[in-house]
Amino acid sequence: MTEIRATNITWHEGHVTRPDREKLLKQRGVTIWFTGLSGSGKSTIAFTLEHALVERGHLAYVLDGDNVRHGLNKNLGFSAADREENIRRIGEVARLFADTGVIALTSFISPYRKDRDQARKIHQDSGLPFIEVMVEVPIAVCESRDPKGLYVKARAALASGKGIGFTGIDDPYEAPLAPELVLRNDQITPQEAAVQVINYLEGNGLLNK
Ligand code: ADX
Repeated sequence: MTEIRATNITWHEGHVTRPDREKLLKQRGVTIWFTGLSGSGKSTIAFTLEHALVERGHLAYVLDGDNVRHGLNKNLGFSAADREENIRRIGEVARLFADTGVIALTSFISPYRKDRDQARKIHQDSGLPFIEVMVEVPIAVCESRDPKGLYVKARAALASGKGIGFTGIDDPYEAPLAPELVLRNDQITPQEAAVQVINYLEGNGLLNK
């Protein structure tokens, strides 16, 4: 848990409520949290889903690991502490997006269970739905895809005795114990994966106000 360091700060309640915003947008705010190994296809699914939702008249927005690390989180690396802070910030940002009534889609490896659980908790505490989606692809498949050439680099670094702490190679990935949804993304297309998420949202009354 990160403590509040500032003193002399007071929570200020606004006059516009979440239901006001949701009425305006004709949808509910929700966070869909994609987790999985590098190369599992999280971002491809998230951007495909974002497109599909917007085409249906819903406001959705992707927070993507590689992209967010170019801006808000540019000062973070891949140590355990930095990954924790990465996910803490994104959990908070996603919560803010969901509070505005937006469908927030996050695409981060988010390898540590406790960090994802903390993101879930802050949503629950705010009365916001948090849908954890495990993008499950065997590491051998991720490694054979290697879209950014990072598995090759990680293997080479490991072979030379240094290692770069790459998730799944020489850094841990803790799979969710009870995700809302599991997508076997080596067996379906990104379009099919997006449809599965939309079906889940519809089936749980999360798409329309
Ligand atoms: S997380 O672990 O903190 O959730 P995040 O999703 O933001 O990671 O970023 C992961 C992306 O950074 C990977 O898809 C990959 O492109 C890149 N990357 C660079 N170094 C590493 C590393 N050591 N481990 C995992 N991913 C890395």
